[in-house]
Amino acid sequence: MGKVYVFDHPLIQHKLTYIRDKNTGTKEFRELVDEVASLMAFEITRDLPLDEVDVETPVTTAKSKVLSGKKLGIIPILRAGLGMVDGILKLIPAAKVGHVGLYRDPETLQPVEYYVKLPSDIAERELIVVDPMLATGGSAVEAIDSLKKRGGKNIKFMCLIAAPEGVEVVKEAHPDVDIYIAALDEKLNDHGYIVPGLGDAGDRLFGTK
Ligand code: PRP
Ligand code: URA
Repeated sequence: MGKVYVFDHPLIQHKLTYIRDKNTGTKEFRELVDEVASLMAFEITRDLPLDEVDVETPVTTAKSKVLSGKKLGIIPILRAGLGMVDGILKLIPAAKVGHVGLYRDPETLQPVEYYVKLPSDIAERELIVVDPMLATGGSAVEAIDSLKKRGGKNIKFMCLIAAPEGVEVVKEAHPDVDIYIAALDEKLNDHGYIVPGLGDAGDRLFGTK
C-alpha cells in the first residue's frame, strides 16, 4: 500500500494559512503556492540517489556528492497543478514537464480528460504528479491511470491539501503510489469541496470565477 506523508514543516504550515485565507488575492496566492511547492520539492527529493566524486577545493581534494542524474518528470494536472511547477523547477531545473488536462464535471464530480502531452521517455523517469487539491480523488486516479497507460511506472503524487476520502481512493486505486501532502483536512462537503480547504484552487490561482 502507498505511504502518505504529511509535510508539517513550520514554513509550509505558515504559508498554507495565508493560502487558505479568503482575503489573500490572486498575486499573493500564486506566490505562496509557488513557495510551498518549492518547500515540498525539497522534502520529496530527500531520497534522490547520489554519486561520490572528487572535487578540488582551494585547499585539497575532497570526496563529495552529486546527484546521480536520475531522470525526473513533473506532471501538473491542469489547470491548478500549473501553479506548482515553477516552484519545483527552481530546485530541479533539469526535470521534464508533462501535462494532463482534466476538469471535474460539476454535476457528477467525475474527471473529464481533455489534454495529455508527456515526455517521450516517461517509462524511465520518476514522475511527480502535482495538483494543489486532492478532493474526491477522481482527478488524481485518472491522471495516474493516464500515465500508467502510456508507460509511467515510478509515480508519486504531491498536493497541498487533501481530504481523507480522496487519499483512500488514490491508495485503493494505485497502491504503488506514495502521496505527499501539506495538510490533511477534515472532509468533503456536498459539492465535493474540501473542508476547510482553500476554495477553488484554479479560480484562486488564475483569478477566474
Ligand atoms: C480541481 C483540482 C483538482 C480537482 C480535485 O480541478 O485542481 O484537479 O479539482 O478534485 P477531485 O479530487 O474531486 O477530482 P478542477 O476540476 O476544478 O479543474 P481546474 O483546475 O481546471 O479548475
Ligand atoms: N477542487 C478545488 O479546487 N477545491 C476543492 O476543495 C475541491 C476540488
